[in-house]
Amino acid sequence: MMLAGKVALVTGAASGIGRATALLMAAEGAQVVAADIDAQGAAATAGVIAQQGGEALAVTADVTDDAQVAAMVAATLARFGRLDCAFNNAGVAPREAAPLAAIDPAEWQRVIAANLTSVFLCLRHEIPAMIADGGGAIVNTASIAGRIGLAQAGAYVAAKHGVIGLTRNAALDHAKDGIRVNAVCPGFVDTPLASRGIERRRAAILARVPMARIGEPAEIAQLVVWLCSDRASFVNGADVAADGGHVAN
Ligand SMILES: NC(=O)c1ccc[n+]([C@@H]2O[C@H](COP(=O)([O-])OP(=O)(O)OC[C@H]3O[C@@H](n4cnc5c(N)ncnc54)[C@H](O)[C@@H]3O)[C@@H](O)[C@H]2O)c1
Repeated sequence: MMLAGKVALVTGAASGIGRATALLMAAEGAQVVAADIDAQGAAATAGVIAQQGGEALAVTADVTDDAQVAAMVAATLARFGRLDCAFNNAGVAPREAAPLAAIDPAEWQRVIAANLTSVFLCLRHEIPAMIADGGGAIVNTASIAGRIGLAQAGAYVAAKHGVIGLTRNAALDHAKDGIRVNAVCPGFVDTPLASRGIERRRAAILARVPMARIGEPAEIAQLVVWLCSDRASFVNGADVAADGGHVAN
């Protein structure tokens, strides 16, 4: 098992990529903290892990709020005594497609807070917890939108480019602490967050993807678990795509 004996924290664990990753981490031997702003969804993910014989704690937290992020990490340490792996994955899609100059400043702030500032806040509390126990591995969810522009999604694209920058700097600043920090860049994946955009633009999206299909959350989970595991011992500061070849096109 790739994560045997490790304690792993997942944000956005109620749904989609976070849920699939929490389940796979548990199947690979980790004790899992399933965190989400959606209390019921987080509890449901933790419940499935328990049903399958794993160990999980559900935590309700809004990752845009520093105090709630601090409490989320504190709850992890209180229950499991340590933190080895963190998947900073919670995020939101823009409310509507809009060209850059038409983005409302409040919507800009919402998208940046949920997709970028949230990752900074998580890193800020996770890294000291990991240092206290000799190091760890962190994966942040960026996107193909961190590598390329996506029409009419300027705030999301800026946030995801920011996640890649934040990942590189966290890796740079904390390698000496025994912490690896990497980013995953999913292409279009079948989750509630992406469903509206995929429905609207399915043919255009598939035309850009060499594998000509939408991804599954479990396919992203495989990459995240590997990056969190000791098998990825020399991988640091990287942004790794799982996108069916989208950004290669
Ligand atoms: N689905 C895709 O096509 C795709 C592609 C690239 C990147 N991503 C990224 O993957 C990540 C996961 O998205 P998903 O597609 O699984 O979507 P999803 O909507 O299924 O899951 C996102 C989860 O994050 C939670 N969340 C949102 N805001 C939060 C907050 N402030 N605090 C705590 N939890 C919060 C939601 O409640 C939800 O459970 C996001 O960062 C998203 O930007 C998704």
